[in-house]
Amino acid sequence: METIQFIHSGWAYIVLLVLVIATFNALIKFFGNKEYGAIDFRFSLFALITMHIQLLIGIILWFTKGYFDEMSVGEVMKSDAVRKLAVEHPTLMIVAVALVTIGYSKHKKKLVSKPKFKLLAIFYSIALAAVLYMIPWNLWFS
Ligand code: HEM
Repeated sequence: METIQFIHSGWAYIVLLVLVIATFNALIKFFGNKEYGAIDFRFSLFALITMHIQLLIGIILWFTKGYFDEMSVGEVMKSDAVRKLAVEHPTLMIVAVALVTIGYSKHKKKLVSKPKFKLLAIFYSIALAAVLYMIPWNLWFS
């Protein structure tokens, strides 16, 4: 369990880095009216892959923690600290992964640069905001 938490905590650096790059790349190139190329496809794909890996590690971590084995649903919900990790963090992170997935598949279907960057910029920005909001910063850096 310690190992999985270590992996989830470490992989989060890669997720954050790749997601920031993919999001700003899309925003800058959307507003700069740039041509969509191979590197843009790669950034968006890497963000998708790293997020999905983090999702899987997170789900495994969640089960190993067994939040609901020791506490009732009511007890989990009453404790701010436990509720954040057991319920709020996983829920919003799953939403973030879903947003990246939707943005990625929608952008792939567009044939012109501007709408491709537009979809990536919108979906990845919202996902990034959700990730930044839901990272337990106090735990991560302690
Ligand atoms: C996909 C984006 C995600 C990111 C960037 C992320 C990031 C993080 C970070 C930085 C921590 C703090 C780790 C530490 O140093 O203690 C953490 C904790 C945690 N994450 Fe995630 N996470 C993500 C998704 C998920 C998902 C989908 C789940 C579960 C389904 C999950 C379950 C957990 C749990 C249970 C903890 C608490 C570990 C503890 O007790 O400290 N995470 N996450």
